[in-house]
Amino acid sequence: MQARAVAHANIALVKYWGKRDDALMLPEAGSLSVALDKLRTVTSVELGGSEDLFELDGASQPTARVRALLDAAGIHQKARVISHNEFPTASGLASSASGFAALAVAACAAAGQERTLEQLSALARLGSGSAARSVPGGWAVWENESARQVFPPDYWDLRFAIAICGAGAKGTSSRDGMRASRETSPYHEAFIEQCRRDLPQALHLLEARDLPALGALAEKNALRMHADALAADPPLLYWQPATLACLHALGDLRAAGVQAWPTIDAGPHVVAICAADDAARVESRLRAVEGVREVLTCAPAGGARLDRMS
Ligand code: PMV
Repeated sequence: MQARAVAHANIALVKYWGKRDDALMLPEAGSLSVALDKLRTVTSVELGGSEDLFELDGASQPTARVRALLDAAGIHQKARVISHNEFPTASGLASSASGFAALAVAACAAAGQERTLEQLSALARLGSGSAARSVPGGWAVWENESARQVFPPDYWDLRFAIAICGAGAKGTSSRDGMRASRETSPYHEAFIEQCRRDLPQALHLLEARDLPALGALAEKNALRMHADALAADPPLLYWQPATLACLHALGDLRAAGVQAWPTIDAGPHVVAICAADDAARVESRLRAVEGVREVLTCAPAGGARLDRMS
């Protein structure tokens, strides 16, 4: 009645920013992401206690979203869920994708259920949309009920340098931010239509391993998502001064011949996409940016899996 699983968070190159069905957590447009090796979450689930309990990095948390996922899996016993993020949590790096992916895998195993990756991805989606993509891992596409891996992690030797650009104080959550954008931003529909064009184009560029074109597409997609959010009422401003400084630093690097492009989720941190051979240069340039607290360079990672309990 207990199991432990590991999963990696992911970064999207074509963003998910809007639901077509809030209750079912279905996206308005498809998204493309890659799982990141250093952003790892380990979650253990023990069934059969007298009450639900959810602990994240030693602190007790509300259990509603965990319970919703368990109910959807048909698991009605009480659960003790202990989750640990193996990356600096004070940084405010989002961990819901890796957390819910690991939870889906661990909970179903603890309940003795055998489920396909597709079913596990659909379950993880109910915790957090982007978690659907952390179940298959690698390069993943999510359009409907579940996400699928389109290329394995070793397909392309890229690096993702994450510049931590703020203390991580909670701003507006992705869930609230995308709802506000959909309901109030005059640019939202245009962004969603852009994503529908970007996804097939990004897959084509990924297939061709065309880094300059894929990087440029990812940068535009992210800035357009932020344009959508900035135009919400009230406006959603996720950036810090260091966020903007990183965008300029990467532009300077490209002008100097180093191929590195930014993407930004619903927060201040900048993720620079580059070839493995350029990662050291990109990392040291980002470290020199005023306001950048830490830079974490990641490689692509695989999907969620059971972790044998010792
Ligand atoms: O999975 P959520 O609800 O935290 O939403 C993720 C939204 C973004 O990170 C901004 C984009 C994405 O596709 O991951």
